[in-house]
Amino acid sequence: MKNIRIRHFRLPDLLRLKGWINQSKKSFSKTFFEEIIYAIVNYFKFKAKRGCILTATINGRPVGMINLHMPIWKKQGGQTMFDIVVSEESRGKGIGTLLIVKAEQFAKETLGAKLMYLDVFEDNPAQNLYQRLGYTKGGFIPDYLKDGRGKVVMYKHL
Ligand SMILES: CC(C)(COP(=O)(O)OP(=O)(O)OC[C@H]1O[C@@H](n2cnc3c(N)ncnc32)[C@H](O)[C@@H]1OP(=O)(O)O)[C@@H](O)C(=O)NCCC(=O)NCCS
Repeated sequence: MKNIRIRHFRLPDLLRLKGWINQSKKSFSKTFFEEIIYAIVNYFKFKAKRGCILTATINGRPVGMINLHMPIWKKQGGQTMFDIVVSEESRGKGIGTLLIVKAEQFAKETLGAKLMYLDVFEDNPAQNLYQRLGYTKGGFIPDYLKDGRGKVVMYKHL
């Protein structure tokens, strides 16, 4: 698709983010938006030295983002976890794929990360996407949520 761009996150992108998260409540914890705000504050505090938040745009309009969590301890510096969301209207067009590929590139080349991983609830079809991009199921926690859904941990060596 034409005119898709991936760029670094800008503060006004935040205005869209809450809407995207609300469209996908089943996929995220209740505190997810607050967690992302915390990540954004740290992102601007440390600039891109330890973390990375990328925004996808179509014709300049933000449609999705990926957040690489900053490792807290130095000894964790070789890995990074990520969260991803794309607006409902823009899904299935390769934007999620592009965000992950660019984030992996940034993690490897700029952060020096050798490992990416994520948590995903067991009923989330996003697992197909991660598998297609080379992520392996590394573990499963049954009954992780009160409603009985489990959580899958997936990882990829870069
Ligand atoms: C997961 C997500 C970021 C993928 O973004 P996207 O732009 O649609 O991704 P792409 O177009 O590159 O790839 C589509 C893939 O996502 C998978 N997928 C993920 N969620 C899906 C959904 N709700 N419905 C249909 N397919 C979905 C499809 O299986 C498809 O895989 P395939 O191409 O191998 O068939 C997006 O669906 C989303 O924001 N979902 C809600 C939030 C979420 O679940 N985030 C992940 C939490 S771990």
